[in-house]
Amino acid sequence: MAARLSASDGSHVVSEPHLRTVVVLAAGEGKRMKSSLPKVLHPLLGRTLLGHVLSAAEPLAAQRTMVVVGHGADQVRAHLAEVAPSVTAVHQAEQLGTGHAVRIALEAVPEAAGTVVVLNGDVPLLRPETVAALVAAHEGERAAATVLAAEVPDPTGLGRIVRDAAGRLEQIVEQRDATPGQLAIREINAGIYAFDAARLRDVLGKLSTDNDQGEEYLTDVFGLLVSAGEPVAVHLAADHTETLGCNDRVELAGLRRLLRDRVNEGWMRAGVSLLDPATTWIDVTVALDRDAVVDQNTQLQGGSVVGSGAVVGPDVTLIDTVVHAGATVLRSHAVGAEVGPGASVGPYAYLRPDARLAEKSKVGTFVEVKNSELGAGAKVPHLSYVGDATIGARANIGAATIFVNYDGVNKSRTVVGEGAFVGCDTNLIAPVEVGAGAYVAAGSAISNDVPPGALGVTRAPQRNIDGWVARKRPGTVSAEAAERALQGASSQVPAASEGEAIHGTAESVGAVTEAGDTATE
Ligand code: UD1
Ligand code: MG
Repeated sequence: MAARLSASDGSHVVSEPHLRTVVVLAAGEGKRMKSSLPKVLHPLLGRTLLGHVLSAAEPLAAQRTMVVVGHGADQVRAHLAEVAPSVTAVHQAEQLGTGHAVRIALEAVPEAAGTVVVLNGDVPLLRPETVAALVAAHEGERAAATVLAAEVPDPTGLGRIVRDAAGRLEQIVEQRDATPGQLAIREINAGIYAFDAARLRDVLGKLSTDNDQGEEYLTDVFGLLVSAGEPVAVHLAADHTETLGCNDRVELAGLRRLLRDRVNEGWMRAGVSLLDPATTWIDVTVALDRDAVVDQNTQLQGGSVVGSGAVVGPDVTLIDTVVHAGATVLRSHAVGAEVGPGASVGPYAYLRPDARLAEKSKVGTFVEVKNSELGAGAKVPHLSYVGDATIGARANIGAATIFVNYDGVNKSRTVVGEGAFVGCDTNLIAPVEVGAGAYVAAGSAISNDVPPGALGVTRAPQRNIDGWVARKRPGTVSAEAAERALQGASSQVPAASEGEAIHGTAESVGAVTEAGDTATE
């Protein structure tokens, strides 16, 4: 696949070597989420809230990253082990405030020096570029502390940036401790900071709990540093939506829409067509090539990739699925699958893990494929289950073919050779092999191998019982129709000879033309 474009260009990477420690605060409960899942573990387009924050801090190339855990600590630790195994979790048994949280984190690493970057765990829209710019400004100015601030339309609930007459930061005041005058301030504390480690340690020991919540506020560090004559700075975020926190599920849905729009805009600017961005939800972990087309009502999740010129949607969900260049996937659900170049899927297909479709193969309508390979140009056009199979190039699998892979205890594989032709309504009872170029007659149940070039057939001889409907279903629609048909026939052509009551011979059953007539393409 061609080199993938990325929605961000990587220009935010901070390259100068600096001693840095990142501390993410994630011990709070998030009561208003009303959830058994800790707030920071709620998912948002491909990462948890915490995962987004960790990823925003990643380009800082910190010596160490610590996450303060408390509520749901076991769940948060398990998540960290999965997504960020190098991160150290620090346990805050009681949530005594953001200042207390940072204090115990730093107590765990007495050797930490240089810059300490603190991030609230519930600010998932923060861009790496913004964190990097905050830290660069802080380190460039040799400030004791720098806070990320934003001008917001509605500051309710947030800490306010209080400046003096000369415009210098004086202190950060929490909503519940603010005076009416301070409440009118719309410049807020985003909960993202850079500190000089030594001076932060010093001041953290002096925090009081003399506030409305009786907590050690990290924000009080700023007022204390200002009083001590230390240089503090404010770094204003250009886009205030980056600083939005998440307190309940309504806010989470709002953040999801904002992130969707940001991700979609990035892909469109990178050369991807999104026909209806409002109904297209692309995880931040997904990659798309230039000239990919995503039609409406489509979700692209996890490690999914869509190649150049591929068309995905409408109504498609891809989870960890790779769709190669020029393929089409229409009204389908795929997880852990791979769709080869120029292959076609759907409408209404279900691709399950390890469904691998080679180039120009086809999985059509109401077809489920699991742990199976389709060779180049192979077709399964309609109404089939393909489980644990290897299907050779250009083989054709007729409608309603079932790969019978499970005997109630074990799963077995079926192999269909290159160019084989399987008639409709066939059961291939694994383990079994249909050789290259072999045919299987429609309606067969195949449990023994079919050699290359042979016809496999298990169909029972057909019997026609003349006059059965007139005798057994008199007066029905069918009987009336049959009567009309037979009268018409007898008035036009000589009456059929009184043949056997049962027609059909063994020889006629397996004719290749019968298999061909009833298979589909
Ligand atoms: C905090 C800031 C506020 C800022 C806002 C931005 C303080 C005192 N206030 O307020 O100025 O505008 O963030 O969103 O810092 N946490 C712990 N341990 C604790 C307490 C909190 O780990 O003992 C974590 C929480 O899980 C959360 C973060 O710290 O991730 C912030 O705590 P939260 O209670 O949300 O603070 P806010 O009231 O939002
Ligand atoms: Mg908060």
